[in-house]
This record gives sequence, C-alpha cells and structure tokens, in this order.
Amino acid sequence: MKLIKLASITKKLAVGALAAFLLIFLPFHMGMNMCILRQDGGEWYRNVCHFMGTNYIVKCFEIILLLCIVCHIVITFVLWLENRAARPVGYAVSQKSKTHTGSKWMIYTGGIIFVFLCIHFVDFYFAKTGLTKGKYVAKVEKVDKAFQQKAQALQQGQMDEKQMQALQKQYMAIQSIPAEKRTQDFKYFVNLTKEDVNTYCGEDFKDYEPDFYNMAIDKFHNPLYVLIYLLAFIILGIHLFHGVVSVFQTYGLMNEKYAKAIHWLAVIYAIVIPLGFAMVPIHVIALF
Ligand code: HEM
Repeated sequence: MKLIKLASITKKLAVGALAAFLLIFLPFHMGMNMCILRQDGGEWYRNVCHFMGTNYIVKCFEIILLLCIVCHIVITFVLWLENRAARPVGYAVSQKSKTHTGSKWMIYTGGIIFVFLCIHFVDFYFAKTGLTKGKYVAKVEKVDKAFQQKAQALQQGQMDEKQMQALQKQYMAIQSIPAEKRTQDFKYFVNLTKEDVNTYCGEDFKDYEPDFYNMAIDKFHNPLYVLIYLLAFIILGIHLFHGVVSVFQTYGLMNEKYAKAIHWLAVIYAIVIPLGFAMVPIHVIALF
C-alpha cells in the first residue's frame, strides 16, 4: 500500500533532507534562548526576538521551517504506516534485528516531540500570531511619538471629548507605571497584558511585540512546566541521536571510515543541544 505515490527511497531521502534542516535550526534556537541566561533583564533576548520577528529573511526562513516540520512529520508517519502494512503478520520467532533498539522508537519519541511542540506553540508561538494571549513589550520612544501626535491633534481641535479623556487617562497611567512594567532605563514597557497595552500605549497603538522573555520567566516559574520541558528534552536527546545517525545513513556516509566519527558527533549533538535548552528552565526556576 502506497499512501504517498513516491518510491520509499525518495521518501527516505526527503525525510533525511528535512531532518538535516531541522538539525541545523536547533543550535540557532538554543543559542537564541540562552540569551535568557544573561542577567540583563532580558535586553539581549528582547533584541534577538525583535530581529527574528521583524527581519524579512528570517520570516521567510520561519515559513520554510514550519513547512519542513509538517512535511517531516507527515512523511515519516506515512513511511511508518507503509512499513507496518508491508509486514502485517508479526514474526513467529522474535528475530534479533540489526537495527539499533532506539531507532525503532523514533516514531514514538517523534510523537512525544510533536506533542511537546503543540504545547510549546501554545506557550509562545501562537501569542505572536494573536491566537493566544501573551505578554507584550513596546518601545517607550514609539509610544511617546504616538502620544505626541495625539497631543498635537488635540491642540488643533481634531479630537472629540472621548479621545481627549482617553489621552488624559493614558498620561496618568504612564506617570504611575509600576517598576515591573518597564525597564530600569525606561526604554521599554515590558510584561504588558493586552489590557496594559491599551492603558499605557493607547487603544490604537499597534507597534508592540510579544515579550517572550517575561513569558518564559512566567512559564518556568511553574515546576510542572519545568518538569514537562525537561522530560521533553530527554526524549529530544534520544530522537536527535538516532536522527543524526539516520541522516548520514540515508545518504550512504555510514561506512567504516566515518562510522565512528558520526557516532561521536551524534552523541555530542544529542547531549549538548538538550542540555543547552534545559539550562533555561533550570536557570529560571533556580534564580527567579
Ligand atoms: C527552553 C526551551 C525553549 C524556549 C524558551 C523556547 C522559546 C521559543 C520562543 C520564544 C519561540 C517564538 C520565537 C519567535 O517566533 O520569534 C519559539 C518558537 C519555536 N520553537 Fe522554541 N523554545 C524552546 C525549546 C524548543 C525546542 C526543544 C524545540 C524543538 C524541538 C523548539 C522549537 C520551536 C519552533 C519550531 C518554533 C517556531 C519557529 C520559530 O519561530 O523559531 N523550541 N520557541
């Protein structure tokens, strides 16, 4: 039975290429997250997130990445279903397969990572698209500019009573903004809810972004969340080890000459990446 009308080897090559792309994405994402470890009130992380959220090349890359994730999941699942269908009856005698035990678990570890990604997207990514509520950040300079423009409109008599009252309310609110809602240098309003954005920036203000730093701090205050993330990283490590080996195997590089080096590369990658990710929730729960 063929669920996608391509030769299995073509599908395997496609899965390998998609996996390689995802393997390259992870160190970047890990590096970006590790900016949270700096004791700078989120300054570095905010700048990186701003760049990632506004640069057009990065935005194109993000669409490619999301497509790669979907294709990787769909094709591997189809391959798994086809392999099962090709061997409907279980072996009478259990045979010692040459396949490493962990690689047989790829579909299950992959499934757990998929569930993790769903949780992760609800936690962070969807707030960017407006699908879920999050925390937001706005540059004081931009809020100030929008405020000045409205003040000018008021002077020229272009504002009605309601707009004038809203502007006065905003002015009063900014005067008494609590310390946790702004950075020390007063360059950013941070940790804002949608209601806060309306209060401090004005209802028509659109120039705000998700405050991923405070969202991460918030999430990782919860020990249950930390546990879920840490467990997911362990599973990720197992998946990554076999993922790296599989990519090289698929492209015929797993020969005697390179096998040992590839094995070690897979071990190092599968330890360093989950460990790097894990440092963030551990750091937050230990220090905040
Ligand atoms: C401490 C752990 C992690 C934190 C704090 C974190 C944080 C974030 C944040 C804030 C975003 C939204 C960034 C944006 O759209 O500009 C994001 C997106 C994403 N994360 Fe994570 N992440 C973590 C671990 C992981 C892991 C382990 C994976 C993969 C297995 C992963 C996969 C993704 C993907 C695919 C996206 C969407 C693409 C993107 O926008 O970069 N993340 N993550």
